[in-house]
Amino acid sequence: MNNHHETPIVTVTLNPAIDHTLHLPIFTLGQVNRVDSERTDPGGKGINVAKVIKALDHPVLVTGFLGNNNSTVFQNYFKSEDICNQFVETPGENRVNIKIVDTTHDIVSELNFPGITPTTADLDSLITTLRQLAESHKWFVLSGSLPPTVPTDIYAQIITMLHQYNCKVILDTSGPALAAGIAARPFAVKPNLPELSQLMNSAMDSDEEILATIKQLLNQGISKVAISLGEKGSLVADCNQILRATAPTVAVSSTVGAGDAFVAGFSVGQARNLSLTDSIRLASAAAGAAVALPGTQAGSLIEVNKLINKVQIQEWR
Ligand SMILES: Nc1ncnc2c1ncn2[C@@H]1O[C@H](COP(=O)(O)OP(=O)(O)OP(=O)(O)O)[C@@H](O)[C@H]1O
Ligand SMILES: [Mg+2]
Repeated sequence: MNNHHETPIVTVTLNPAIDHTLHLPIFTLGQVNRVDSERTDPGGKGINVAKVIKALDHPVLVTGFLGNNNSTVFQNYFKSEDICNQFVETPGENRVNIKIVDTTHDIVSELNFPGITPTTADLDSLITTLRQLAESHKWFVLSGSLPPTVPTDIYAQIITMLHQYNCKVILDTSGPALAAGIAARPFAVKPNLPELSQLMNSAMDSDEEILATIKQLLNQGISKVAISLGEKGSLVADCNQILRATAPTVAVSSTVGAGDAFVAGFSVGQARNLSLTDSIRLASAAAGAAVALPGTQAGSLIEVNKLINKVQIQEWR
């Protein structure tokens, strides 16, 4: 498949993050600790989704808010990966998440900084950018948490606006932002089980309850409901079928970002008009390939293709 005639999928990241990972033989509180090696990776859920879309050889465009004090790592990354960048720049620092890895004990400690605080004018610029993109793009992925100054219903506002242009939106967020976003009836949602359980204010500990929730979301007007179950795979439903997909068995390196890779694979499948079954296959294989690599790195297309046939899909109920 070549991507020259395909329209980019747009991913929206309102709260980008820089993952700064430090490796030390031993980390001791209250002492001078020497770092052996470090790496800095641009992150934030929509950006992680974009990495995987790109790795699947589909064009991608990134937008959202980017703090301009520490945006270089993002700019360099987008340039090096040939990812089209239409972020709205706002004053301030993007979140930095420091991960201190004690390699002897294999323990990770994290320090998470606060992030950007976009203004009302920034919000307006974002809506203008998205409106322009909606003229010539069809698929939008809205992923991740919101900065504190952004209204809880921002995803709902964006979805409603994008629907005026017949765009399709895949929403992957949690808490109040998910609840508010669902009311605007995005094309697809992908909660994991804890997110679903928070949304429904219910334990989700039986198949009956999960089934009833899937039906409720479909009845509300969401076309595709994907529920990810970590290493247990996923459930994906539309008005015709409810499918259960296994997660391919891989040597696990890091499950951080598994959901983002799943969303990336699913969005590429849907943008390419694949069947629901083939979209889930691609989603599960992309997630498996990402899980096999450290951090939030995307698996190569070769690895993804190797895993595609290892995903088992059955009708569920
Ligand atoms: N250990 C694993 N081995 C193989 N595949 C996995 C594993 N864990 C997760 N996956 C795949 O990734 C998908 C998404 O995982 P999960 O349910 O953990 O998402 P998530 O909680 O949204 O993750 P995140 O938001 O951190 O990216 C699963 O449906 C599965 O296909
Ligand atoms: Mg997730």
